[in-house]
Amino acid sequence: MSITVKSAPTILLTGASGVVGQALLERLAGCDVVCLTHRKPVAGHRVTGLRGDLTLPRLGLDRAAYDDLADRVDVVVHCAAVTGFSVDPGRTNDLNVRGTEGVLAFARRAQAPLQHVSTAFVARRDLTRDAYGSARPEVYLGSKRLAEQAVADSGVPANVIRPSVVIGDSVTGRIAQFQGLHAIAGALLRNALPLLPLQPDTRIDFVPQDLVAAVVAGLVRSGTTGGEYWVTGGDAAPTATRVVELARALGESLGLEPDLPRFVSHDMIDRLVRPVFMAALPKAQRRRLDDMLAMTALFHTAEPFAGTSHHVPGVRPLTTGDLEDAFTASMRHYARAKGLTSPSEVAA
Ligand SMILES: NC(=O)c1ccc[n+]([C@@H]2O[C@H](COP(=O)([O-])OP(=O)(O)OC[C@H]3O[C@@H](n4cnc5c(N)ncnc54)[C@H](OP(=O)(O)O)[C@@H]3O)[C@@H](O)[C@H]2O)c1
Repeated sequence: MSITVKSAPTILLTGASGVVGQALLERLAGCDVVCLTHRKPVAGHRVTGLRGDLTLPRLGLDRAAYDDLADRVDVVVHCAAVTGFSVDPGRTNDLNVRGTEGVLAFARRAQAPLQHVSTAFVARRDLTRDAYGSARPEVYLGSKRLAEQAVADSGVPANVIRPSVVIGDSVTGRIAQFQGLHAIAGALLRNALPLLPLQPDTRIDFVPQDLVAAVVAGLVRSGTTGGEYWVTGGDAAPTATRVVELARALGESLGLEPDLPRFVSHDMIDRLVRPVFMAALPKAQRRRLDDMLAMTALFHTAEPFAGTSHHVPGVRPLTTGDLEDAFTASMRHYARAKGLTSPSEVAA
C-alpha cells in the first residue's frame, strides 16, 4: 500500500533516547519530530519532547494533549521497548505488547501509518532455553512476536522492521548505550574472556545503527506500507572466528595484548563451568555470563538471516568488509569510552 507523505511530515517517535531512536533522530532532519519521552530527555533541531509512558492509557498523556498530538502527527515510528533479557516479564510485556497496542490505537486515531521496529531474532525459534540463570531471552522474544501479531491484526497501515544486533555508527562507533556484543568483545580486549560459547564458523549478525536509521527514515519518506524489512548482515555477516580476530587486531593496535578465547559448546559450559565455577563468581559476573549464554545461543544456526533492507530506496546492502569496519569502529569507540586505550592512542 502506498500513502502520500508530506515532504516534511510530523513524526511521533517513541524510544527516542534509545540506541535506534538516537540514530534515527539524526536521519530525520527536515521533519518535525515529537518524541514521546519517558525518563531521559531528548534534544535536537525541530525536535520536541513530550513526557509520557506507553504502559499507561493514552500513552500517559492527558486527553487534550493526546487529541492535539493525534491531530498533528502524520507518521508514527515505534522504537520504545524493553530489550534486556533479565527484566521482569510483567514489565517486558507491559511495554512491548500493551505499549505497542497503545501505539496502534494512537496511529488509528491519528490516521497515521506506523513504522514498527521489531527484531530479526523473532525468527530464531527453539534455539534458546527458558532460562540461563536470570536471563530469559524467550520473554523478550515472545513479547516482540506478540507485538508483531498485534500490528498485523490491527489493520493500521504499517511496516515491520527487523534489525539483528545493533552496534554503533559505522564510522564513529557512537551509540546511545553499549550492547551485549560490546560487553563480550570488551571482555576479550581486557583479556577476561577465556571461553566463548560459540562455534568458530557461526555467523555473528550485527548491523551499524546508521543502517537501521537509514531504513526507517527511508520508509517514513517512501510512504509504502505492508512490508517486512530484515535489517541484517545476512550472508555477509562475519563468522565468530573473524569477529574474534578483529577484536584482537584492534586490541593490539591499542597497545593491549588480548589472548584469543577458546570456542566451547554450551554443553561444556553447563557440564563443567556452571557446576564448578558459577557459585564462586560475584553476582554481576554470573549475570554477565548468563546474558552471554542467552545471546550466543541465538546465533547457533547455520541458517543466515534474510536481508531486505536494500529494498528501501537509497539503502544499499552492506558487504562483509563494511560490517567488519563498522565492528572495529564500534569497538574502538567502546575502548576509548572505557579507557582501554594506551596513552599514545588517546593522544591521537
Ligand atoms: N539494540 C539492539 O541491538 C536491537 C536489536 C534488534 C531490535 N531492536 C529493537 O529496536 C527497538 C529499539 O531498541 P533500542 O536498543 O533502541 O532500545 P533501548 O536503547 O533500550 O531504548 C529503549 C527506549 O524505550 C524507552 N522507554 C522505556 N520504557 C518506556 C515507557 N514506559 N514508555 C515510553 N518509552 C519507554 C526508553 O526511554 P527512557 O530511557 O527514557 O526510559 C528508551 O528510549 C526495540 O523495539 C528493540 O526491540 C534493538
